Amino acid sequence: MGAVAMMQPTSAAAAAPHSEAAPRLRVENVSLRYQTPSGSTFSALEQVSFEVPDQQFAVIVGPSGCGKSSLLYLTAGLAEPSAGAIYVGGAKVEGPGTDRGMVFQSYTLFPWLTVRENIEFGLKRRGIGAAERREIVEYYLNEVGLKAFADNHPKQLSGGMMQRVAIARALANDPQILLMDEPFGALDSQTRLQMQQLLLRVWEHSKKTVVFVTHDIDEAILLGDRVYVMGARPGRIKQILDVPIARPRTLDMVMEAQFIGMKRQILGLLHDDLAELH
Ligand SMILES: Nc1ncnc2c1ncn2[C@@H]1O[C@H](COP(=O)(O)OP(=O)(O)OP(=O)(O)O)[C@@H](O)[C@H]1O
Ligand SMILES: [Mg+2]
Repeated sequence: MGAVAMMQPTSAAAAAPHSEAAPRLRVENVSLRYQTPSGSTFSALEQVSFEVPDQQFAVIVGPSGCGKSSLLYLTAGLAEPSAGAIYVGGAKVEGPGTDRGMVFQSYTLFPWLTVRENIEFGLKRRGIGAAERREIVEYYLNEVGLKAFADNHPKQLSGGMMQRVAIARALANDPQILLMDEPFGALDSQTRLQMQQLLLRVWEHSKKTVVFVTHDIDEAILLGDRVYVMGARPGRIKQILDVPIARPRTLDMVMEAQFIGMKRQILGLLHDDLAELH
């Protein structure tokens, strides 16, 4: 469990109603406050509201400490908001569930299980039969290019390979939404570029809604349909920007004027925020 869940957030407000035509993710007036050791209240997120439509690749960027991970933890149901509510597929998040797949920066594979068994883990727990499990596992092993490594244990894999298993494991459960918190942050830049392309390919096949947190603006623009720029103190959404670049996205697009223009815009928003802190 992450650091966010270690301290009890202050009292939760009543849930808001939800409409019939719900987007895949709806974050409604979410605040997250912590009681500091000195007895005052620290506001990690303040009145955050946004929606992510079905099948969208949403990317969240923002300065360190603005509450990006907190937002994912709340969506994952690993912590509870102090006020507001989060809905996935119209249902209020009230705890962890297999409708939300997660891939985090630190490697979270089960070290005692093989690649195949890691991918199979959630399927087994859900009581899916052996033949169907095998079919699903084979499909995702193929998607992430790890067929030859199916019987390896995590310690026999590189960092990029481990994250590919984590992606396969999350998708094998057929979640409504994939939550990714800086999943490529610990990888070298070459592997990172390969992983971005792999993720885009897998996403285009799976049509999942993705919420992806990154510090890397190039990565945000290269992957996202929309970039949600957050500000800090208190953590909030500053601006939501559509990425006007056609798919499929390739690495050479980072040189294009549209790409550079968007990068400048996001950097400007982030710099404003840094200036506010001084
Ligand atoms: N359990 C906790 N108790 C008190 N404060 C916390 C707790 N967990 C997180 N915070 C604070 O909440 C704020 C948001 O943290 P969070 O980890 O969500 O930020 P982040 O945007 O993911 O940062 P980074 O980019 O560095 O990963 C931070 O200021 C952090 O210090
Ligand atoms: Mg974080």
